[in-house]
Formats: sequence, C-alpha cells, structure tokens
Amino acid sequence: MGVMLRTALAAALLLWAGPSFAAEDANGYANTGMSLDGIGKAYMGREIAQVMGAAGAEWLERPERVEEEGTDKVTPLLDLKPTDVVADIGAGTGYFSFRIAKLVPQGKVYAEDIQQEMLDIVAAKIKEGEAKNVVPVLGGVADPKLPANSVDLIIMVDVYHEFSYPREMGRAMVRALKPGGRIALLEYRAEDDSVPIKDVHKMSEAQVKKEMGAIGMAWVSTDSKSLPWQHLLIFKKAY
Ligand SMILES: C[S@@+](CC[C@H](N)C(=O)[O-])C[C@H]1O[C@@H](n2cnc3c(N)ncnc32)[C@H](O)[C@@H]1O
Repeated sequence: MGVMLRTALAAALLLWAGPSFAAEDANGYANTGMSLDGIGKAYMGREIAQVMGAAGAEWLERPERVEEEGTDKVTPLLDLKPTDVVADIGAGTGYFSFRIAKLVPQGKVYAEDIQQEMLDIVAAKIKEGEAKNVVPVLGGVADPKLPANSVDLIIMVDVYHEFSYPREMGRAMVRALKPGGRIALLEYRAEDDSVPIKDVHKMSEAQVKKEMGAIGMAWVSTDSKSLPWQHLLIFKKAY
C-alpha cells in the first residue's frame, strides 16, 4: 500500500472515530475538542455541556413543558415525606422547587443555583407568596454551599450534565446529605434518538451510574418509562 493511501486511510479513521479525549487526570477530567454546546472538557468520558444562561428562563417556564416533559408526573415519583428537606440543585427559576415545596409543608426546599439572575426570579416568586418554605441559595461551580448532613433528597432536573466540576460537586452533595439521603437525577435519555435535545445535554443510564458510583452513591432505581424525554435515576447515600 502506498504511503499516500495509508495516510489517507489513517486520516479517515481518525475522522470516523469522532472527538478524541486526552488522558484523564486523577479526578476523571480530560480536555477534548469543543463540540456544539460543549465546554471542551470531559468527565469520565463525557463532554460537559455549557451552562444554560438566565436568558433561558422563559424556556424553562414555557407552558408546553408540562406536556412535552410530563413535568406534573415528576413529584409523585419522588416518594417525599411532609417533613423532608430537599435541595433542588441548579433550580433555575424554581420550576420544580415550588412544586416540591407544596409536598413538604413541614420541611423546606433549598433552591440552589450559580446564577443570581435565576435566584432573583425565585425570590420574586417567594415575595408573590408562591411558597414560604423555599430558601434561595447561591452556590459555587464546585460547591452547592449547603449545610452538612442536612438534606433528605437532592434533585437535579437537566442540571448535572452542565456541572463544570462534577466530581467536586458530587462530593459536596454527598456531604450535604443526611445518612441514607437520596439523589434524584432527571436527565434526557441518551439512548433515545427521538428525544429532540442535543447529545451533549443528554446522559445515558450507564454514564449516570458510573459517575454516581465514583462519589460512593448506591444505585436504587431507574425509571425510563414514566416521562416522555427523561429518565429518573435515584441513588442513596450508602453510609
Ligand atoms: C437547564 S437549567 C434547569 C433548571 C431547572 N432545574 C429546571 O428544570 O427548570 C440548568 C441550571 O443549572 C444551573 N447550574 C449549572 N451548573 C451548576 C452548578 N455547578 N451548580 C448549581 N447550578 C448549576 C444553571 O445555572 C441553570 O440554572
């Protein structure tokens, strides 16, 4: 085989193989080529997505979300007790925080986000009387800044795949959970091509399990049937 042909074949193979990830560091991070909506950084083999800015607030609150994502079906799947303390991490406009708050009247919901503009919307809803037991929390990219051993359930709806420091966030979330506390992730199903969301904003069940396993969370259940676009994965703090 001629040198030119070999070179052409090697180049074609490289293109076919898609984005290549550099070697992972000790925390599972690697640099990768930037894809559309990605940040050019991978964690445990998955490119991290760009954070949705506050300009997306209206999209989060769109009325058709109820039907498209089955949002009314989510809270009954969470097995909440009236006294539960819940952290809605990456709460955005508080779309789920206020729905959850009604189900934990003797508990509370931390509506945590890294964008003050999102928390201003949450604060306005509290002022308008939507709920008294929602507490806005401004977190950092590697730390949700929640009190240790204080939370029964952490929920993340379309959020985790945007964390730029998922390992550090994961460890801090585990610290915030009470013993036996749970983490619930809703992520767009990567296994389902019919879900109309960009790949970098989707996660497979296997990937979520791998990343939760890396922070010591024990898998409890996966529900891929109840919601049109997302799966709900639940994990438990095993100690
Ligand atoms: C797509 S929005 C989802 C908002 C909300 N969970 C919902 O479903 O309506 C993602 C949110 O995650 C937040 N986010 C991204 N990285 C974060 C981090 N490290 N810690 C906390 N929030 C984060 C963003 O600021 C944004 O508000």
